[in-house]
Amino acid sequence: MRNALWFAVVSVLAVLAHAQNQSTLKDAYKDCFMVGAALNPAQFTGQDQAEDAIIKTQFNTISPENVLKWEVVHPRPGAYDFSAADKYVEFGQQNHMFIIGHTLVWHSQVPKWVFEDDKGNPVSRDVLLDRMREHISKVVGRYKGRISGWDVVNEALNEDGTMRQSPWMKIIGEDYIEKAFRFAHDADPDVQLYYNDYSLENDAKRKGALELISKLKAKGVPITGVGTQGHFHMDWPSIEEVEGPIVDFSKLGVKVMVTELDIDVLPQATQSQTADVSLKVAADPKLNPYPNGLPEAVQQALAKRYADLFGTYAKHCGAVTRVTLWGVTDKDSWKNNWPVRDRTNYPLLFDRNAKPKPAFDAVIQRAPKRPS
Ligand code: XIL
Repeated sequence: MRNALWFAVVSVLAVLAHAQNQSTLKDAYKDCFMVGAALNPAQFTGQDQAEDAIIKTQFNTISPENVLKWEVVHPRPGAYDFSAADKYVEFGQQNHMFIIGHTLVWHSQVPKWVFEDDKGNPVSRDVLLDRMREHISKVVGRYKGRISGWDVVNEALNEDGTMRQSPWMKIIGEDYIEKAFRFAHDADPDVQLYYNDYSLENDAKRKGALELISKLKAKGVPITGVGTQGHFHMDWPSIEEVEGPIVDFSKLGVKVMVTELDIDVLPQATQSQTADVSLKVAADPKLNPYPNGLPEAVQQALAKRYADLFGTYAKHCGAVTRVTLWGVTDKDSWKNNWPVRDRTNYPLLFDRNAKPKPAFDAVIQRAPKRPS
């Protein structure tokens, strides 16, 4: 009788412990990959208490939504401003998180002066390479040993897999990518270095990226991983398409990570699946159907979509090393303002009141079961 009672008590405790283990994103997936979020200053300076609590409980890796972009840290020649970035990195260290740097070389959120001389003409290849080296060495060097992984080059490819004709490409040529990785490695030989892009689920763009990464690897360029951003819709990409980059890039011997996950539930503003930040579409009430709340059926469909995605990432346990959401709650997501301004979007796992959504529960439920 006493044995039976003990058995019952121990069983209940085991179930409770299991439930507790499974109740946060980082714990539920800890045998497979890190789970993270991109943060804005209100979140890492403690101004937003509710979100602060979510971040500390749920995530073991963080990315900076904007504070490490060129225009923020290096707005004018020779003038650096690390005030916000320092706070971001301190927050990550205090909470023992895997800290990501985003991003060193991109065509967006980089001031025009970087590419111009004092007369406004394009600078030479050598001048631009010098500017790039100086910026990378200063920024990566400052956070050496504290930031663990950098998005070195962001969005270098067009949708058809050809090289984007960014000012970096036009002035330096294709080897700007290789140079950026080498400069970053020189500044911190231990830091992980990533190529990051969107729509790598589409065949043409993925093919271009595979060629690019293969060439870099063949030349001995220090690249650790590929980030697939993951700005998804309800009906794109299919699960099969999601698996494409995971399988193909890991075959090249690089880590694969999902770096900017969110799911757009609103009607698509354009036919294209791009996440190009320069896209702007005029406001139209038809494009903003849920200003007062998400209908239950859409909420449940979103939950299923999220669970299917996390289930797929977990199926590729070990190949996928990190899944980072681009934001914490629906309130602060960039998808409320892109590509159409002032919409009410619902792309994340926590709602506007910082409460977990059905999608959160579905993701936890889908986590791999651990032997008890
Ligand atoms: C976005 C930020 O979320 C916005 O706040 C900012 O206004 C524009 O950039 N791909 C990227 C991210 O690599 O840096 C972008 O972040 C979203 C698309």
